[in-house]
Amino acid sequence: MSNVAGSPLDTFLAELERLRSDAATALASATDDDAVEAARIEFAGARSGRLKAVQKALGGIPAADKPAAGRSFNDTKAAVAALLESAQSRLGGGGGAESADTIDVTLPGDAIPLGHLHPITQTIRQVQEIMGQLGFESVDGPEVEDQWHNFEALAISPEHPARDPLDNFYLATARAADPLLLRSQTSTVQIRVMESREPPLRIVSLGRVYRPDTADATHYPMFHQVEGLLVEPGTTMAHLKSVLRLFASRFLGGDVHVRFRPSFFPFTEPSVEVDMEWGGRWVEMGGAGMVDPAVLAAVGYDPDAVTGFAFGLGVERIAARRYGVDDIRDFYKNDVRFLRQF
Ligand code: DAH
Repeated sequence: MSNVAGSPLDTFLAELERLRSDAATALASATDDDAVEAARIEFAGARSGRLKAVQKALGGIPAADKPAAGRSFNDTKAAVAALLESAQSRLGGGGGAESADTIDVTLPGDAIPLGHLHPITQTIRQVQEIMGQLGFESVDGPEVEDQWHNFEALAISPEHPARDPLDNFYLATARAADPLLLRSQTSTVQIRVMESREPPLRIVSLGRVYRPDTADATHYPMFHQVEGLLVEPGTTMAHLKSVLRLFASRFLGGDVHVRFRPSFFPFTEPSVEVDMEWGGRWVEMGGAGMVDPAVLAAVGYDPDAVTGFAFGLGVERIAARRYGVDDIRDFYKNDVRFLRQF
């Protein structure tokens, strides 16, 4: 019969209860990891722990009482495990009590990795710096432009292929007859500046431009240009060439030669392609010329009284030249292994 005082089951349950309360007492008073470990060995030790001993006593319980005895044993075992765990975490878990004393404050701290500016941004700032020393003020213009500033005031007629919808990112707006577009060149800023100021002027404008080109090693649908404009009495092509050569020599280092090849742009007359020689190679960097009288008239200047030059260079081109990058797509992949090199 079970459940009679003094039966094997009662003795077994009483022993379990004693074990649980002893474990609770021992762990409540444990103040370091050693004490917790000692309690673990005493109560839950695999070979001679008290739980193990009680488990052995399970064999002497009559079969009818075994399920109840087994359940109580499992409950007690779980309770002891929970007590051990909470004592460990109270003490900071494994070595926590000591570690506060073992931090070596004389060791150097962990370096915080600092990023740096993107090579295109660095290039833009360097160009602004160099041109600033030549007296050119840096100005900005909007990236969403109208037909007037992107084309008309620059004497680019409605039939000109540069206005082809396939060559521009026109925006779908209600202004069907005069749609806005993502500017295809920074020459827009020449117009904006001349419209709002009187000569003399020396400005540079660096920013993004957009053309629906297929991306390859030298093209990308978004890229950056440097636009330069100087309007002063007596300006000639010689001034233009000197400014470009001074700029290129400062930017690329050494004495960079600049070559002009005859060309055509609607907004300059005469117009030239600008090549720069560096490391034994000529590389095309952009276009330039004397500001066309039609442009001067469009902004309200007197073409008979005012002269100026303008130039436009590709920022990616001059950056690629300087850093030896042979595929401009690398600038936009955001791969830190590439970007870290600059
Ligand atoms: N806007 C021209 C382009 O994107 C580049 C250019 C050529 C700019 C001649 C100028 C210039 O200011 O005078 O191809």
